[in-house]
Amino acid sequence: MKKIAVAGTGYVGLVAGVTFAEMGHQVLCVDIDQDKVELMKSGISPIFESGLEELMKKNFAAGRIDFTTDFQSAYKDADAIFIGVGTPEQPDGSANLSYIATVARQIAESVEKDCLVVVKSTVPIGTNDKVEQFIQDFLVNDVRIEVASNPEFLAQGSAVHDTLHAERIVIGTESKWAEEMLMKIYEPFNIPIVSVNRRSAEMIKYASNDFLALKISYMNDIANLCELVGADVQEVARGMSYDARIGSKFLNAGIGFGGSCFPKDTKALEHIAHENGYDLKTVKAAVDVNTEQKVKLFKKAAKRLITFSGLKVAVLGLTFKPGTDDLREAASLDNVKLLLEKGADIFAFDPVGIENFKRFYPEGKNLNGSITYVTSPQAALEDANVAFLYTEWPEVKSVLPNEYTELMQTPLVYDGRNVYSVEEMQQANVEYHSIGRSSTERVREGIVSNGK
Ligand code: UDX
Repeated sequence: MKKIAVAGTGYVGLVAGVTFAEMGHQVLCVDIDQDKVELMKSGISPIFESGLEELMKKNFAAGRIDFTTDFQSAYKDADAIFIGVGTPEQPDGSANLSYIATVARQIAESVEKDCLVVVKSTVPIGTNDKVEQFIQDFLVNDVRIEVASNPEFLAQGSAVHDTLHAERIVIGTESKWAEEMLMKIYEPFNIPIVSVNRRSAEMIKYASNDFLALKISYMNDIANLCELVGADVQEVARGMSYDARIGSKFLNAGIGFGGSCFPKDTKALEHIAHENGYDLKTVKAAVDVNTEQKVKLFKKAAKRLITFSGLKVAVLGLTFKPGTDDLREAASLDNVKLLLEKGADIFAFDPVGIENFKRFYPEGKNLNGSITYVTSPQAALEDANVAFLYTEWPEVKSVLPNEYTELMQTPLVYDGRNVYSVEEMQQANVEYHSIGRSSTERVREGIVSNGK
């Protein structure tokens, strides 16, 4: 059992803290926000994440995890301090390291025994060398401090599961002491550990995320071509997936990737490359494809309709993916803005994202249109002239093709997540446009596929 302090209780920090406690370590989580600390002490998780609150409460009751704003008492006698604070994107695409620097300074001023500082936050390659130097420069007591890199690969919505059942744990260290300390901490997880040097570990995080982003953008690029040549991207993906070298995951074409990682980490690596005088063409292409893909359906609909003004527009799904209330870089934000600018009256449904969305677009008049929030997909579809599907929530997927015909004034559907088969929408007499597949036209007697 090790004594562990965790700096930051966002997705990365809190999930790390809770899972370390679950594995038997003694954990103290530090956050600057007193209200958030009180909330967690009362058993409420500040983030919506499957299984997190239960595990947090269980380990709090067992005395293995606690929460505090008092960083000094948390850091002074910890065996290891994990840093999980944010590294948000700056206007030029680079990562903002000011939160890391603040924590590093606090650590330097607090530690009273030898301690391993482990950076879980995603940071530009070489940052951990600087963090170590920075801590040494400000160190108050005569103790041994080393910095290790331990990037995080969890996905939102399945963060606890991803951490407890990870495919690998990457540790980047510069000494046997640091490597052994991390090996000991992760021993109870029983997960393969990839031990590399610090800079390689930092790069593994970016290279992995950007590769996945690239895979998605590649499929979106192929999807756009499929539409032009009459192929079906889902059939194409299925055919590709049997090749073990390609794999079956992350081949879903859609309205682009969002979230807190892919958009930020692609731009960050592009920036790092640029700073080093290198043009990282592949990643740049992934970013460009994604930017266009997000508004693809809006552009298609804008060509099809004379105007959005005075039209009732159903929006199904707001979050960047199902299973989270996170809206960061969600395609819905770009699209709703465009729709409101064009005067649409939007009726939006999302099972958990509405409260966050209201911060961008409060209920009522907005720009040249309006937005009303509803509690079911059916309420959004009632009398609608057009529907846009942005997130494949189970509630959205469970809407039957016939319901579009029965509920909407005109069953015109733009599906950014390929939720339905073209055939079933054809049978239900819905004019259906999706990604990388043929569209259907609505006719009086049945539907004719126009192959576009
Ligand atoms: C991602 C990585 O999966 C995770 O390993 C990393 O640590 C953080 O970034 P996350 O952003 O939570 O996790 O979600 P993820 O499930 O990867 O989806 C990201 C975006 O890509 C979503 O907008 C999703 O809709 C989109 N996506 C994903 C696709 O469009 N197609 C796919 O096939 C997969």
